[in-house]
Amino acid sequence: MSKESEAIHFSLIHEGKVIPIVTKPYEFKNLMELIQNKIFIDEFGECLGMGRCCTCVVEVSSDTVFPDKERNEESTLLKNGIENPIMRLSCQIEIGTHLKNSVISILNQM
Ligand code: FES
Repeated sequence: MSKESEAIHFSLIHEGKVIPIVTKPYEFKNLMELIQNKIFIDEFGECLGMGRCCTCVVEVSSDTVFPDKERNEESTLLKNGIENPIMRLSCQIEIGTHLKNSVISILNQM
């Protein structure tokens, strides 16, 4: 089995419900698009992934190691008073093996 077809299992938490997700690397452009596809949330991802609106914030399980934040993500989070390293912009997170077995909580929009 190639890495590209490897299944990625993780959980989303939305409004107190745990939603099991199975995807594969690059099935969606980013985590925000996956979330909008699996569970549509009104006003989530308003800037369509530009990293500017801060409406796609998620909290990742603290034992998950995600790629470092790019400059755009860091500055948008800081502008919105978010400094906690486990809070991320889902539009800046690619669909990859770093998501495996993670638990990601969808937060209320900013
Ligand atoms: S969709 Fe706007 S910051 Fe992520």
